[in-house]
Amino acid sequence: MTELDATKIDQLASYLKNAKNPVFFGGAGVSTESGIPDFRSTDGIYNQEYDYPPETILSHTFFMNKPSEFWRFYRSKMLIFNAKPNPAHSFLANRGIPVITQNIDGLHTFAGSEKVYELHGSVLRNYCMKCGTFYGAEAVLGFDEPPRDSSCLIDYDATKLTDKQLRSIPLCNASVASGGTCGGLIKPDVVLYEEPLDPAVWDAAEQLVINADLLIVAGTSMKVYPAASLVSMFTNMYGLKGSVGGGFFGGKIGGGGAETGKVGSFDSDGNPLKALVVINRDPVSADNSAQLVIHSNVGEVFTSVQNNL
Ligand SMILES: NC(=O)c1ccc[n+]([C@@H]2O[C@H](COP(=O)([O-])OP(=O)(O)OC[C@H]3O[C@@H](n4cnc5c(N)ncnc54)[C@H](O)[C@@H]3O)[C@@H](O)[C@H]2O)c1
Ligand SMILES: [Zn+2]
Repeated sequence: MTELDATKIDQLASYLKNAKNPVFFGGAGVSTESGIPDFRSTDGIYNQEYDYPPETILSHTFFMNKPSEFWRFYRSKMLIFNAKPNPAHSFLANRGIPVITQNIDGLHTFAGSEKVYELHGSVLRNYCMKCGTFYGAEAVLGFDEPPRDSSCLIDYDATKLTDKQLRSIPLCNASVASGGTCGGLIKPDVVLYEEPLDPAVWDAAEQLVINADLLIVAGTSMKVYPAASLVSMFTNMYGLKGSVGGGFFGGKIGGGGAETGKVGSFDSDGNPLKALVVINRDPVSADNSAQLVIHSNVGEVFTSVQNNL
C-alpha cells in the first residue's frame, strides 16, 4: 500500500464512520478475489475464446434456440460453487451495509449480508418456464435426472463432467394433475441479455440510492445498463458534473470530461454529506464525479479499512 493509498484508506474509513446511510453497489470485480473471473478484465470471460461471444450465449434468444450450447457454457463458466466470500463480502456483511449487486454468485448472502439486492438474479435459483416451480442449483448441475441431493454442490467441478452432462437440458419433473411430469424447460433465475430486470428489485435498489449519503461503487466497469444508471442517478441528484452518462442496455458510458464538479456540502470535520467513492482496479468513467477514487483490489481495500476503523 503506497502512502497515497494510505491517505485514501483513512478517507474512506472516515466517510464510513460518518455515513448514516451507506450503500454499496458492486460488480463482478468484487468476486475476482474469490476466484470467480469477471467479464471485462484481461483474463475475464470476454477475453477468452468460445464458439460464440459470451454476450450472445448469455442472451434470451440463444437460451431458447440453443439450450444445449447455453448449458454447456453456463455449467462450465457460471456455476462456480467452491468459491468463498472474500474480505469485501465479509466487511459489508459485518457492518450491515446494504448491497446492490450485479453479481449472480450469491457470495454476499453467503457472507451473511441481510440486505442484498441482486439486480441480475442468482445462479442458486432456477425455475420452470412452464409451471413456475422453483429449483435450487442442484437441479441443473449437469446430471441426467434433476433434481439431485444438494450435497453434490460441495465439490461440484464442471471440468469433471462429460460433454454430454455439460450439454444436458434440465427439464421440470413437477407432477401435473393429469398425471406424469411437467417437462417444461428449467431456466436459471438470472437476467439474460434482452431480458428486463425484476421491477421490485430495481425499485428497491433505486430507493436505497436515493436515500444514500455514501455510495461506494466497486468492481464494476459500469457498462451494463440499467444497473450502471444507479450511479448517474446518485451523481445527478447532487448536481455532480462529469457524471456517468449514456443510455440503457449497452449505451456507451460518456459524459466524463474536464468539468469535474464535486458535492459541495461538508460537515464540520470536512466529510462530504453526500459522497461517491469508486474502488476499481482500472479507471472507470465515474472516477470523474467521485469524491474518492481508489484504483486497487476491493478486498485489499476493505481489509485495510477494517484495520483503520
Ligand atoms: N461473480 C459474478 O456473479 C459475475 C462474474 C462475471 C460476470 N458477472 C455479470 O456480468 C456483468 C459484468 O459487469 P460488471 O461491471 O459487473 O463486470 P465487468 O467484468 O464488466 O467489470 C469488472 C470491473 O472490475 C474491475 N476489477 C476486477 N477485479 C477487481 C478487484 N479485485 N478489485 C477491484 N476491481 C476489480 C475490473 O477492472 C473491471 O473494471 C454483470 O452484469 C454481472 O452480472 C457476474
Ligand atoms: Zn414445470
